[in-house]
Amino acid sequence: MNDESDFRVMKPEEFLAAAEQHARWIARYFENVREFPVLPNTGPGELTKTLPASAPEHGEAIDDIFEDFQSLIFPALTLWNHPRFFGYFAISSSPPAILAEMLAATVNVNAMLWKAAPAATELEQVTLSWLRQWLQLPPEFFGIIYDTASVSTFQALSAAREWTDPESRTKGMRPGMTVYLSEQTHSSAEKAALALGFGQEHVRKIGVDAQFRMRPELLETAIVSDRAAGRRPCCVVATVGTTSAASIDPVPAIAGIAEKHNLWLHVDAAYGGSAALVPEMRQVLDGAARAHSLVMNPHKGLFVPVDLSVLYTRYPEVLRRAASLSAEYLKTEEDASAVNYMDYGIQLGRRFRALKLWYVFRFYGHEGVVSILREGLRLARLLKHWIDADPDFELAAPVELSLVCFRHRAGDAFNRRLLAEINASGKALLSHTVLNGRYVSRFAIGNMQTSEADVRETWASIQETASRLGNVRLDEGRLGAAP
Ligand SMILES: Cc1ncc(COP(=O)(O)O)c(C=O)c1O
Repeated sequence: MNDESDFRVMKPEEFLAAAEQHARWIARYFENVREFPVLPNTGPGELTKTLPASAPEHGEAIDDIFEDFQSLIFPALTLWNHPRFFGYFAISSSPPAILAEMLAATVNVNAMLWKAAPAATELEQVTLSWLRQWLQLPPEFFGIIYDTASVSTFQALSAAREWTDPESRTKGMRPGMTVYLSEQTHSSAEKAALALGFGQEHVRKIGVDAQFRMRPELLETAIVSDRAAGRRPCCVVATVGTTSAASIDPVPAIAGIAEKHNLWLHVDAAYGGSAALVPEMRQVLDGAARAHSLVMNPHKGLFVPVDLSVLYTRYPEVLRRAASLSAEYLKTEEDASAVNYMDYGIQLGRRFRALKLWYVFRFYGHEGVVSILREGLRLARLLKHWIDADPDFELAAPVELSLVCFRHRAGDAFNRRLLAEINASGKALLSHTVLNGRYVSRFAIGNMQTSEADVRETWASIQETASRLGNVRLDEGRLGAAP
């Protein structure tokens, strides 16, 4: 029956040899990562051309597959787990979390019900309670892991809809239910509103101040005028660490308005939440304890690989009402006494994500986690001082967390070109945004291996590239002026 030539059953000793080989590659990756370009030198479709158009008919040797990973796949990857990855929000996957991922894939449990995965369910409750304590959020906050902040926010808005209008579950969304964001809120909140049927016409984007923070007085005016027009203000999303500029909305003032007008307050701390673990940064979560729900992403700030996002809510029953629908084949004897996480979201099947969080929390401890986060914040402040000291450059937003937004004074086209050159060098990767209508480079520090030398050398190469481009511009100007 067990015809190995057909099924290529991997024997334990073969698995061990292959695992050792893979583990050696992983260890070397961490050791030598700075030798690899952050951005690959590849164009759309190039990798596809090197791969067979159809899957193999017969199984292949692991050695061959691994070889192709190294020679074809790896060189075509943008290396997010690189100390000079400064784009978007820089992230880290740490060795203990990688080991946990191997174990989770090995046991391959489906954490949909307590019965289906008792330890996965309880480890999720335990690790999220540890995290809640580190964040100093109230004990009544119930936590659940989803894949991404986009899904966490989607679930939060579904709870907000249920909370405002319990009949929406049976009758559907009534017209006029309205969601309030700011001009700087991440697009995932608007996407959630779209998917849930609020409709884009019922998404209000409240204006921000000079520091890109939601203006509470404009929020209140919008709520009052919507209510006067017969609409139903439902939910406001406040952000701790906006995507473009890492600005921090005035959550206490927004919470006051939400309470006064009876709106669900969702706090998007996907990026900024982890900074609150650092004692001297605790204030970034001021007011968050008054939220109805809050999302933060350990896969952004807490050294676990993508994906792992956490939603906390003080109203788990509302979230459950919005999401639960059980079928006979999913009922268990323990339903009354255990948490079945499938009841709190649209997913049935769920990965065992809590294991990697548990490994990381135990391996680094609070002290280790805080010191790594604190170093990222220090490096961002250092970079801010270097930018302040260079008359050719200017900061484009206050540096609140570990993101530094800056621009060269020579204008948008120049800044675009400068960023493209830096990224094409492969030495570092930055991303961009537009603030106040102007093109801005974003230097996000967040990889746990990033050192002061990484930031200093990257800044030096930005300065050098800018002066080289400046000289080219001068030459072009001269050439242009010639007869
Ligand atoms: C503030 C904020 N919220 C939400 C998200 C969406 O995160 P995810 O990729 O986990 O859906 C991001 C992504 O960068 C973000 O910056």
